[in-house]
Amino acid sequence: MEKKFKRTLVTTALPYANGPVHIGHLAGVYVPADIYTRFLRLRGEDVVMIGGSDEHGVPITIKAQNEGVTPQDIVDRYHKIIKDSMEELGISFNIYSRTTSDIHEATASEFFRRLYDNSQFVEKSSMQLYDEKANQFLADRYVTGECPHCHYDRAYGDQCEKCGTSLNATDLINPKSAITGNTPVLKETKHWYLPLDRWEKQLSQWILEGHKEWKTNVYGQCKSWIDLGLQPRAVSRDLDWGVPVPVEGAEGKVLYVWFDAPIGYISNTKELLPDTWETYWKDPETRIINFIGKDNIVFHCIIFPAMLMAYGDNYQLPDNVPANEFLNLEGDKISTSRNWAIWLHEYLRDFPGKQDVLRYVLTANAPETKDNDFTWRDFQSRNNSELVAILGNFVNRAMVLTHKYFEGKVPEAGELQPIDNEIFGEIKGIGQSLTNALETFHFREALKEAMNIARAGNKYLQETEPWKVAKSDMARVATILNVAIQICANIAVAFEPFLPFMSGKLSEMLVLGKLSWDMLGQPDLIAAGTQLGQPELLFEKIEDDAIQAQLDRLSRIREENKLKSWQPEPQQPDVPFDDFMKVDIRVGTVLECKRVPKADKLLQFLIDDGMEQRTIVSGIAKYYNPEDLTGKQICFVANFEPRKLKGVLSQGMILSAQNPDGSLVVIGPTGAVAPGAQVK
Ligand code: 2FM
Ligand code: ZN
Repeated sequence: MEKKFKRTLVTTALPYANGPVHIGHLAGVYVPADIYTRFLRLRGEDVVMIGGSDEHGVPITIKAQNEGVTPQDIVDRYHKIIKDSMEELGISFNIYSRTTSDIHEATASEFFRRLYDNSQFVEKSSMQLYDEKANQFLADRYVTGECPHCHYDRAYGDQCEKCGTSLNATDLINPKSAITGNTPVLKETKHWYLPLDRWEKQLSQWILEGHKEWKTNVYGQCKSWIDLGLQPRAVSRDLDWGVPVPVEGAEGKVLYVWFDAPIGYISNTKELLPDTWETYWKDPETRIINFIGKDNIVFHCIIFPAMLMAYGDNYQLPDNVPANEFLNLEGDKISTSRNWAIWLHEYLRDFPGKQDVLRYVLTANAPETKDNDFTWRDFQSRNNSELVAILGNFVNRAMVLTHKYFEGKVPEAGELQPIDNEIFGEIKGIGQSLTNALETFHFREALKEAMNIARAGNKYLQETEPWKVAKSDMARVATILNVAIQICANIAVAFEPFLPFMSGKLSEMLVLGKLSWDMLGQPDLIAAGTQLGQPELLFEKIEDDAIQAQLDRLSRIREENKLKSWQPEPQQPDVPFDDFMKVDIRVGTVLECKRVPKADKLLQFLIDDGMEQRTIVSGIAKYYNPEDLTGKQICFVANFEPRKLKGVLSQGMILSAQNPDGSLVVIGPTGAVAPGAQVK
């Protein structure tokens, strides 16, 4: 028998305040959590949704250092952008707070202290990397070096972004300090470790025996961690940004960001509900659901639960952790540092009033069971051929026809025909599948079911053809349009969790009042005689130029990233002087320069080489107008074996240098030189 719960606590992963949030965060965490919470609220359940910014950790301090500002400046900036943009998208947190709040610092500090006092940690000294120039231990991302697994040369001290392996900074080959670029030395330091091995049996029972219903990606990750054997994890760092370790003699040490961040769920609940927060955390009749991305699974399913078990005091463990996989963007992994993302605040600026379109596309494409790809073309097509052509079109037809034949007053239904009863039966069935999909965190499927109501509505109008019946039987038209308007009301209810802005607008047009989930499937939500509002379009077409502008932005970013990641070719092996002298490089003056017919890459030069005139063909036509080179002095290899290019005999090779973007620049002397002079 399923356990009965009195209330639900929905938590959403706290995003790092070192950048704005992007579509990956939204699809993975905030949109599904919001859908679920809105659904429970419509059912009249007691539910709170907790969010906030994760404001500690090394990336924030590095960003601050690079910009010459304080970490507090960084988190103040991004906390505001994140909070405002999520609110504008309709993510309906009961609280969105932050981990630099006083209440959080006190809560996290007390949590650590209690574990410390109850001997729940082991203290260990170990050798850690230390930057002698900066006088600082180098935690996590403060060290870069070569990955010992895939040999990527810019792996971080906590993880290799190329092969995904989690690392210890001391594993890196040829480590370098991110602060000074120096090679760090090893120095002894003391830290507190949470002995996960002590909790292994309980964790295994709780998850592997007790939660077989969890998503396979979540269950599978937990199982492989547990099967490997759990090890003690350090929960403190040598750093000056974070919650100070509340122990005598721990100066210069803070709580590891992954120790304090999940406690943020507790402190934010406390801030929201100072008097009743404990019932949401300690009453077994509360159900806790953690919405997270797949990279957070181990922290939410293993480490934080172990912390809660170690704390005791009846803290409840999550009932479910419906983690999502990742959303990619146009075929590439989303990356904050490479600016490869669609930032929410920029989307809201570029597509004002289109919050629901993004919510729709991210849900329809949610990476629930595997990584998925967001493309702008798919975004456009889902808007134009689903939201506009199916959902918007049905509601608009029902509204316009009711205005046309009944001046916008909901007509009285006469005797229902089989087709009318069928459609209500169908909507009831859809409502049940929709509810079931939402209860089990299958949001893509749930959205499809909701769309099926609009699809059924279109089919109903297509089959009943009220515009034809109007020529002979207005009583029947009244019934058909009454039914159509009731379907619209069902749409307003079914879509509220997914598209709350559309649902609000539609409810207003239908004069619906407060919505509740049990209205779904009902045939009589709007009384006959109700005067409807004016029909307004719920969605509008998105044109090609808006999409092209976004694609152009992404192409520019791709180019910028290529340039940023460019590195000069490694140096060639040494050559003796005599070998170098074998290559006869000279200066020549360009007497004539023209394009080679039928060869769009080639320019043909006539060069004065001091002795005679020679012809050289060079593949630089893409980068020069011939007339710009005429009269210039250039360097060329005089004893390069002559060869024929497109029928022209080339007697030498013009020297040019290649830029990171592939473009070529011809090399010449910086002052006037006699033609024929040798380059040495
Ligand atoms: O991965 C992240 O973005 C983390 N900031 C998530 C923290 S979730 C929770 F524990 F606070
Ligand atoms: Zn690697």
